[in-house]
Amino acid sequence: MDSRLSISDTPDMGAGTLSLREMLAGRKPGFGLPGAFYTDPGIYAQDLAAIFEREWIFACATCEIPKPGNYVTVTIGQSSVIVLRDREGGVRAFYNTCRHRGSRLCDASRGHTPALICPYHRWTYRLDGTLAHAKYMPPDFDVSEFPLLPVHVRTVGGTVYVSLADEPPDFAPYEADLAVRLAPHRLESAKVAFEADLVEHGNWKMVMENSRECYHCATGHGELMRTFLDIYDFANPSEAGQIQAYWDKWSAAGFKSTVAEGPHYRAVRLPLTGESRSITMDGVPAVNRPLGDAPPDAYGSLRWVHYPSTFNHCINDYTVLVRMLPLGPEETLVTTKWLVDAEAVEGQDYDLQNLLRVWTVTNDQDKALVERNQIGVRSRGYRPGPYSPALEAGVLKFVDWYCGKMTDHLDREGT
Ligand code: FES
Ligand SMILES: [Fe+2]
Repeated sequence: MDSRLSISDTPDMGAGTLSLREMLAGRKPGFGLPGAFYTDPGIYAQDLAAIFEREWIFACATCEIPKPGNYVTVTIGQSSVIVLRDREGGVRAFYNTCRHRGSRLCDASRGHTPALICPYHRWTYRLDGTLAHAKYMPPDFDVSEFPLLPVHVRTVGGTVYVSLADEPPDFAPYEADLAVRLAPHRLESAKVAFEADLVEHGNWKMVMENSRECYHCATGHGELMRTFLDIYDFANPSEAGQIQAYWDKWSAAGFKSTVAEGPHYRAVRLPLTGESRSITMDGVPAVNRPLGDAPPDAYGSLRWVHYPSTFNHCINDYTVLVRMLPLGPEETLVTTKWLVDAEAVEGQDYDLQNLLRVWTVTNDQDKALVERNQIGVRSRGYRPGPYSPALEAGVLKFVDWYCGKMTDHLDREGT
């Protein structure tokens, strides 16, 4: 047996020892990442440049900005972005930075305003980003030269994505796959019943990796596993046959359910356990009013992930949208939004604590798992290990995607 360590086995994996390109090239196929990828500030900066400032990032639901002047802000790396509804009903996004001397415009995470007024010297922008007023500027000052810088924005099925890239990646394949799958869930006519922020002391990739497998579910998620059926191995003939029967039934009811797979996303509808009709503690829907349409029985749930920032579940009575944004090399903000039908009334149509229970405890459990993992990979004793092809295929797909994106970035940069 060869006792020499390969690059990815070496304990000292800091950028000072090996270049990022060497570390990417030296990773063993099917294995995890060296520890520096979860801790090193230099690699974190490259993650922001290569991934978060380039890809489509999930921002919010369209139902959070239903009326002109409604806005939300979202921070991607060092850049705060305003996502708003303009006067024509369109969704726009701008950098949350004034064109005068660069002050942040909006501090709130959400709000409503007829115009965007900078709190510093009160330059005032319309909802289409154009500059309307700037007092005490000289006569030859041309307001048309200083609109807010736009950010690319796309919507699909009631969800909003932004990209900070000059030329964003193609959104069309994802949009085409998700639009048809999300349509019956009618997220446009939902409301956010509750939103929770959780700061996890782990690298964003650690958070995403943890979300991409249910290998840990049996020991880590007693509440979730009451209703959540862990099926990933579609190569298994008995599981595949079981699922196909559901897919046939759902498709007949207008719910496209088979796997939609792209390099950076995956969506599939799968059944819940037994007679469960929702992901709740007892499998009974938490909300009396359904969110969107529903087939007559065995509704299951639509699960979908989009790298690098979101994974989600649409169930008959509610949808849960989870957004992950990096705060630092070892810190990630995980925001969970529970959507219910806009007409549902708290205390009448749903009990809020009952609605929140499963995902709140599951998120807390995942936070603990991520933070324990983060502590472990900081150790000199950490060596990247092999993923289970059967149960961690989703993790491997994400890590391979990440490595490909980072390599592309280095190629573009010529480093
Ligand atoms: S920095 Fe915004 S008005 Fe001066
Ligand atoms: Fe988990």
